[in-house]
Amino acid sequence: MRLDVVTIFPDYLEPLNVSLVGKARARGQLDVRVHDLREWAHDKHNTVDDTPYGGGPGMVMKPEPWGEALDAVIASGEGRPTIVVPTPSGKPFTQALAVELSEKPWLVFTPARYEGIDRRVIEEYGDRLDVREVSIGDYVLAGGEAPVLVMVEAIARLLPGVLGNAESHRDDSFAPGAMADLLEGPVYTKPPQWRDRGIPDVLLSGHHGKIARWRRDEAFRRTTANRPDLIERADPAAFDKKDREM
Ligand code: ADE
Repeated sequence: MRLDVVTIFPDYLEPLNVSLVGKARARGQLDVRVHDLREWAHDKHNTVDDTPYGGGPGMVMKPEPWGEALDAVIASGEGRPTIVVPTPSGKPFTQALAVELSEKPWLVFTPARYEGIDRRVIEEYGDRLDVREVSIGDYVLAGGEAPVLVMVEAIARLLPGVLGNAESHRDDSFAPGAMADLLEGPVYTKPPQWRDRGIPDVLLSGHHGKIARWRRDEAFRRTTANRPDLIERADPAAFDKKDREM
């Protein structure tokens, strides 16, 4: 998969060299290219923002540098990328969207600072390409760079061969499957005693059926406590008699 990021803070994307994404790049599974938007700003101060029409606080990112940057990035590859525009006004970034984006061959991220990008840029590319305005949550950050790091990590770990163990995403919270509507429950590792705390006996029983049932009960308990909205929203057929008794 190819990923381009156009930003006024290329250094902010340095974490893409580390850990899971860094390793995927080193292995050639991800081709990541970070571009400085100011390369496409031509005045003496490399200006990328201006005051908003209609008045109001803050600054708006100018259309010309974004247009030149996106034209250059799009022309540098084969086919049409999907453009991902991080904005608190976008559609929610969910595991389902991460899966959908992980199946695209080429993503271009356009993190903005200030009050956002001149609307005409979104319309211009939306007429020709698949443009997604995406929010990572109901809070406002100072810019879209941190959301890009979040989205790239969620997407990269879904690519074939990127996670060591393909089974690792099977039980993820929000992963499709038997426990699709439940959050992942607690996990334990060695030693069997830590301070005065042991681990649940069932996990040592070797009884796979009982362990699966226990995991499901714990997932249900945690979801009820932390995200009752997920239980409300779920298809009632997703829950069995035992769940309902909890
Ligand atoms: N830019 C600023 N806040 C954001 C958010 N919550 N999601 C995506 N992009 C953003």
